[in-house]
Amino acid sequence: MLTPSQQLAQDGVAEQLTTPNYAVFGNPIKHSKSPVIHSAFARQFDEEITYRALSIDIDQFEARVTSFFAGGGCGLNVTVPFKERAYAMADEASDRARRAGAANCLIPIGDGRLRADNTDGIALVRDMVATQGWQLSGRRTLIIGAGGAVRGILQPLMAEGPQSIVVANRTAQKAHDLAEEFSDTAIPVSGCGLQDIAGQTFDLIISGTSAGLRGELPDLPDIILSDRCCCYDLGYGAEPTPFMRWSAGKAAWAVADGLGMLVEQAAESYFLWRGRRPSTSEVIQQLRILMTV
Ligand code: ATR
Repeated sequence: MLTPSQQLAQDGVAEQLTTPNYAVFGNPIKHSKSPVIHSAFARQFDEEITYRALSIDIDQFEARVTSFFAGGGCGLNVTVPFKERAYAMADEASDRARRAGAANCLIPIGDGRLRADNTDGIALVRDMVATQGWQLSGRRTLIIGAGGAVRGILQPLMAEGPQSIVVANRTAQKAHDLAEEFSDTAIPVSGCGLQDIAGQTFDLIISGTSAGLRGELPDLPDIILSDRCCCYDLGYGAEPTPFMRWSAGKAAWAVADGLGMLVEQAAESYFLWRGRRPSTSEVIQQLRILMTV
């Protein structure tokens, strides 16, 4: 096991300890856009920070988090597959992280203690409302998938006051269980299998499965998209995702991918760490261009 300073030297950050030091831990992490996003945020404020994307061995996560903060790390983002473990090792947590049972953001709060937060759900809401201009209140909402990504967005989505939320998943039991966890809220939430939504009408559809990562579309039955139905894929890519193509084929009123959400979750992390909220629209545009060249 390396000491914190040896670990930092290995990660190539020791020489930069004078600048505030941030990172994202994941596995895999190679294509992370977070360093580019956070550098752009820092430039907006004329601030200097170091932000690295580090691939962490599966069995090393907790030890690496501990040595990162012991070595002076100022904040950490966490991505797949470590979000639940990040939440579990924190000393305190925000409500939204507690509801998600997962954290994508760790904040040092002194005496070696860590606070866990989850900025994914608020990021989705900001992108849909502020950037896309969609209205969420009163919407009959369908969420496809019932994994970690969906768990992370449910609470902030409910706070927008949709009329109802149906969580439909390939494995129906997982959707039932997730809906049950949120049954203490004012918004009616139900869980079911994918085929159970046949013939139902929705105003907002959010795709949160990992199928798109493999270029696949979940086996969706015939459902009805209302006049102004908006469709959002938590995933993104240089090309429209399979779910976005499906939505366009159904004449959805508006279709968006999760690139804006990615930038918004980073902006909220930056705010939690540094107390200033970067503006996101230009960064989203720049990333979009970078992805298509
Ligand atoms: P994540 O953290 O990305 O949410 P996860 O927790 O493994 O990853 O969840 C993946 C989700 O995508 C699950 O809801 C999964 O459905 P199952 O619970 O039935 O496994 C869903 N999923 C993955 N591939 C799918 C496919 N080809 N069709 C439909 N749903 C799929």
